[in-house]
Amino acid sequence: MMQRMGRVFLLALAVIIVVAAAMQVRAQGDGVLVTQPNLDALLALKQALYDPHGVLSSWNASYKEGACSGLWVGVKCAGGEVVTLQLPGRGLGGTIAQQIGELTNLRKLNLHTNAIEGQIPQSLASLPNLRALYLFDNQLSGAIPTLLGSSSPLQVVDLSKNQLNGTIPPSLPSSYLFLLDLSFNNLTGALPSSASMQLRYLILGNNFLTGSIPASIAESTNLIVIRLEQNRLGGTIPSQLGSLFSLQTLDLSNNDLNGSIPYALGSLASLIILKLAHNNFSGSLPTTFKQMRKLEYFDVASNRLSGGIPPEIAEMVSLSSLDLSQNAFNGSIPVDLAQLNLTAFNVSYNDLSGVIPSFSHAFNATSFLGNDDLCGFDAAHSCFFSSSPWPSTPVPHPGSTLAFHPPAEHRSRGMHTVRLILIVLCSCLASIALVGTVLFLLCYRTSCSEKASIAGTMDVPEDGTETAASGGTLVHFDGPVAFTADDLLCATAEVMGKSSYGTAYKTTMENGYVVVVKRLREGMIKSQAEFEAEVNCLGRIRHPNLVALRAYYWGPKDEKLLVFDFISGASLAAYLHAEGKEMELTWNARMNIAAGVARGLYHLHKQAGIDHGNLSSSNVLLDSDLNAGVADFGLASLMTAAATSNANATAAALGYRAPELARPQRKPTSKSDIYSFGILLLELLTGKLPSDPIPMPGGAVDLPHWVTCVVKEEWTSEVFDVELMKGDAAPSEEELVEVLQLALCCVASVPSSRPEMTELLHRLEDITSALQHQSS
Ligand SMILES: *[C@@H]1O[C@H](CO)[C@@H](O)[C@H](O)[C@H]1NC(C)=O
Ligand SMILES: *[C@@H]1O[C@H](CO)[C@@H](O)[C@H](O)[C@H]1NC(C)=O
Ligand SMILES: *[C@@H]1O[C@H](CO)[C@@H](O)[C@H](O)[C@H]1NC(C)=O
Ligand SMILES: *[C@@H]1O[C@H](CO)[C@@H](O)[C@H](O)[C@H]1NC(C)=O
Ligand SMILES: *[C@@H]1O[C@H](CO)[C@@H](O)[C@H](O)[C@H]1NC(C)=O
Ligand SMILES: *[C@@H]1O[C@H](CO)[C@@H](O)[C@H](O)[C@H]1NC(C)=O
Ligand SMILES: *[C@@H]1O[C@H](CO)[C@@H](O)[C@H](O)[C@H]1NC(C)=O
Ligand SMILES: *[C@@H]1O[C@H](CO)[C@@H](O)[C@H](O)[C@H]1NC(C)=O
Ligand SMILES: *[C@@H]1O[C@H](CO)[C@@H](O)[C@H](O)[C@H]1NC(C)=O
Repeated sequence: MMQRMGRVFLLALAVIIVVAAAMQVRAQGDGVLVTQPNLDALLALKQALYDPHGVLSSWNASYKEGACSGLWVGVKCAGGEVVTLQLPGRGLGGTIAQQIGELTNLRKLNLHTNAIEGQIPQSLASLPNLRALYLFDNQLSGAIPTLLGSSSPLQVVDLSKNQLNGTIPPSLPSSYLFLLDLSFNNLTGALPSSASMQLRYLILGNNFLTGSIPASIAESTNLIVIRLEQNRLGGTIPSQLGSLFSLQTLDLSNNDLNGSIPYALGSLASLIILKLAHNNFSGSLPTTFKQMRKLEYFDVASNRLSGGIPPEIAEMVSLSSLDLSQNAFNGSIPVDLAQLNLTAFNVSYNDLSGVIPSFSHAFNATSFLGNDDLCGFDAAHSCFFSSSPWPSTPVPHPGSTLAFHPPAEHRSRGMHTVRLILIVLCSCLASIALVGTVLFLLCYRTSCSEKASIAGTMDVPEDGTETAASGGTLVHFDGPVAFTADDLLCATAEVMGKSSYGTAYKTTMENGYVVVVKRLREGMIKSQAEFEAEVNCLGRIRHPNLVALRAYYWGPKDEKLLVFDFISGASLAAYLHAEGKEMELTWNARMNIAAGVARGLYHLHKQAGIDHGNLSSSNVLLDSDLNAGVADFGLASLMTAAATSNANATAAALGYRAPELARPQRKPTSKSDIYSFGILLLELLTGKLPSDPIPMPGGAVDLPHWVTCVVKEEWTSEVFDVELMKGDAAPSEEELVEVLQLALCCVASVPSSRPEMTELLHRLEDITSALQHQSS
């Protein structure tokens, strides 16, 4: 359970650390000699540290040229000044010298997992550029420097596993803070009450903190993890915590909290782990908890909770571990809990009564002990002999509790909790006449056939008259320019690309208007009625990040053309995989593109109620300002099942197909779109083509497996596109890792583990707005 709880955090941390280590390898001298104050400070640091393994022997006082040329281990400079100092896990002891305050350009200090003693130097608080401070797992003692974070943009502070005491300086939760981990120390005093919008991880467990939980914590709206376990906190849980939309872990166990559990916590829609055990909570369990549909781990053991166990718990569909032991719950165990896939269940030491429902036979007697009137869980508590109220009604045979009918009240609840799934259907048939203008046109210009035209590619008879006369149909959706079937068929066309759905042409009409015409593959289209119903849905979709379908043409020989807006630019694939400087995409640009694609997909999924079905970097078109337009959405809905299988096979070859679509006859879903989007994110992060297998010691693997392996093997730096690491606009490790995490969630092999588009969009917009703040 601890493993599950720490998973998110540990991944982030591990990746951050590994990236950090790799950045160090990357460190190259810039040829500038180290400045004298920096040199003096480094030598003072060396002197104060105890170095039994001679790790610092490369810090040679009589060869100062080495300091900034990459020869001094752990030192990385810019312009002769030290910017990072990283010596994690090198067996160092001794102390950190106060002179570290002379390294005025230091951005990152990483000395974790050593045996360093003494105090954290007060001078660290005056470093104006310090962003990351990793001193965890040492033997540091005394107080945290009082003004730490007040004069620098500190983003990450991890001082966990030391013996620090005193209070948390009020300056610490600065507006930049991303991670604050002070767990496993001897800190006293109250929790910080200032909020930080950037804060994701607030980890203060295993200290001696007192006072109550300030409601202002809820103003840090991006929190993912709150861990305050094993402290001496009192008072009640502020109901404001219910507004933390992104919160995944809330651990308040082992404190002295009291009062009732706020109903508002039920709004924590992202929550996965909730631990409130070993406190003094009273009252009943809020029925609003049924809204926590992601909750997997729920532990309220050892409190003073009372009343019945709400059957609504059964609506927490993800729940796998439920511990209600050592409380004062009464009534019977709701049969509805059988709907859950519980792997751990404990209701011991309550006031429960009645026969245990059949599902609970999966658990042994230790899950039910200490409930005087509960029966059926072992021979000693047979319902034949118990003093429970049940024997007065018909007694079930041993082993036949399956047939036992629970009270009618519970039955009907069970029926009500059957999940209703609302499917947004495109019911557009009725609106065809309103949206489209149907035109029957003649192509009478003889000049038409002299050009390379779409008509030409369709083997239209030389004079064109016959074709049109026999009744081709052009249907317009709203758009900036009106054109006739004549204009379209007589336009010049050049092939742009082919896909499993057909061929795309850049088409220039005689008046200069340019569109993209997609000629769908013959013999793969649904019947005309079905096609028209679907295409009219697609033609109504308008969003700045979706390439609009403006018209379609159903020709007399069943030729089908779709007319789209033309985006003058190149596809994302061209940008990412082309050679040459001029096509490079910065981190900001990549994140804007990702957010743009997410907005487009969000609109498709949530507003239009359709799935894309064919997302890839070649279907993301970038205009001259690098705004993303997603093309080719929903075309599967126009095609037969055979065509969909073809398209699935192509998507597989390109590396974008979700694993569940490998089975025959599977149609794309919103979750398979999320998978493709995850691949797209990996492509943006790594710069690698998802279609290319990547050689690994055990044989070539695909992109998501490669990324997963590399992260697991702790060479995370290998993952990121080298283009991203260059120049001033290089992202921080934290940013890279955050997006990497997001991408890995999207490519989860189990569709239900992938996040919703809503959540993705929220996270990506956070990232892009933070980047805008940084650059402005
Ligand atoms: C330090 O550098 C000097 C001058 O380059 C060199 O002579 C000496 O051997 C070096 N000492 C160590 C311990 O590397
Ligand atoms: C903190 O610890 C140091 C030694 O590690 C001790 O001298 C000091 O009194 C402690 N302060 C508090 C407030 O407990
Ligand atoms: C910190 O707390 C632990 C556990 O209570 C204790 O063993 C240790 O002596 C304390 N350290 C200091 C420096 O107070
Ligand atoms: C909760 O605990 C606080 C002290 O931490 C106490 O003042 C208050 O009366 C308690 N409230 C309840 C409902 O027990
Ligand atoms: C829990 O609260 C009750 C009533 O408020 C009080 O009598 C009891 O001492 C508290 N228990 C603990 C461990 O604080
Ligand atoms: C459960 O306990 C509450 C008081 O906490 C009481 O009002 C209710 O009647 C009890 N229910 C049963 C079934 O014993
Ligand atoms: C429980 O697991 C079974 C089989 O693993 C699955 O079919 C069912 O949908 C799951 N139920 C819930 C509520 O997740
Ligand atoms: C009962 O179940 C628990 C948890 O599933 C297990 O740890 C324990 O060993 C089991 N006890 C017996 C007697 O089977
Ligand atoms: C259930 O909780 C009780 C009391 O906390 C404990 O003794 C028992 O071992 C637990 N049973 C399981 C299966 O975890």
